[in-house]
Amino acid sequence: WQYEGKLLLLLTSAHLLCSPFSWCCQLVECKLYRGGPPATIVTIDEESPNGTILVENMQINGRVQNPEQTISLTLLRNYDYWVILDPVLQRLYLNSTGRVLDRDPPNSITSIGVDVQCTNEKVGIVIVHEVRILVRDKNDNSPQFQQSSYYVAVNELSPIGTTIFTGFSGNNGAIDIDDGPNGQIEYAIQYNPNDPLSNRTVRVASALSGNIILAERLNYEERTRYFIIVQANDRAPYLPNQRTATTTLTLDVLDGDDLGPMFLPCVLVSNTRDCIPVFYRVVIPELTDFRGCLGSWLNGRISKASSYHLSNT
Ligand SMILES: *[C@@H]1O[C@H](CO)[C@@H](O)[C@H](O)[C@H]1NC(C)=O
Ligand SMILES: *[C@@H]1O[C@H](CO)[C@@H](O)[C@H](O)[C@H]1NC(C)=O
Ligand SMILES: *[C@@H]1O[C@H](CO)[C@@H](O)[C@H](O)[C@H]1NC(C)=O
Repeated sequence: WQYEGKLLLLLTSAHLLCSPFSWCCQLVECKLYRGGPPATIVTIDEESPNGTILVENMQINGRVQNPEQTISLTLLRNYDYWVILDPVLQRLYLNSTGRVLDRDPPNSITSIGVDVQCTNEKVGIVIVHEVRILVRDKNDNSPQFQQSSYYVAVNELSPIGTTIFTGFSGNNGAIDIDDGPNGQIEYAIQYNPNDPLSNRTVRVASALSGNIILAERLNYEERTRYFIIVQANDRAPYLPNQRTATTTLTLDVLDGDDLGPMFLPCVLVSNTRDCIPVFYRVVIPELTDFRGCLGSWLNGRISKASSYHLSNT
């Protein structure tokens, strides 16, 4: 018991008292002289430049240089050579020579782990110190809309408050590959100088979903088309860091007297109001015996079976 007590006393004061060659000193070599958790954990920003200091000093007991070398340090588990060790200064640097430390897809480097192995040159004991480098997200990506533009057709009779557009749901709206708030999207309607009324005609029902509702009654007889600018911004906590993207939502007003676009005898060309006429082929047999109303209307006009195109009107 007495012996163990003395040993403990010697060990705790060893660094202050001993000479490099004494027995006690040889046992503290390679150990950390700092307190705290055994692993060294540091954080750096993604895209940090080459040579960024990761760990100022590993705080390992010992000397790597002659004269009086007591330890040697090597880097293990240095996958992809992201880390450079300066053994004399016990310093770790980032090696991003010719590449970017990118936290976002597709690289997705969120942390780097290496080990600093220390060999006690006097007694041959090896101690491995784990270093964990956490890569902090930088808001380096802007939201991106998945489509270059969006389209919606709305019946002019739709009441105010009707949800007219949910086209940003799923992953069809804007996507930002940054992490956390830097990658979260909010939508807002922007003023369109080329269509000054567009921003008051609709509004965003909820910034997160980007669902759009009608804010004013539409009138087909006055306006048949609006160009609405929708902005997506990420939610970077510091506003000047926020990044944005915009898209145009084309809103076509449908005439409320009609049954709706599905029943018109034409097919809407996507994203336009142009119609491809639908051709109905009518085969009319000999008209002389025909007794129906179509027959009486056609009577005297046509004498022989044929085919006709029925137009919209
Ligand atoms: C990258 O940084 C390391 C560590 O500071 C340095 O040794 C190396 O020369 C740098 N590479 C370039 C290309 O600057
Ligand atoms: C730095 O990284 C580059 C690219 O992976 C590698 O070729 C080079 O050997 C590394 N440099 C050091 C000193 O590890
Ligand atoms: C539309 O944008 C203009 C210009 O920014 C603004 O003055 C107006 O208040 C906006 N209207 C609505 C309803 O937000």
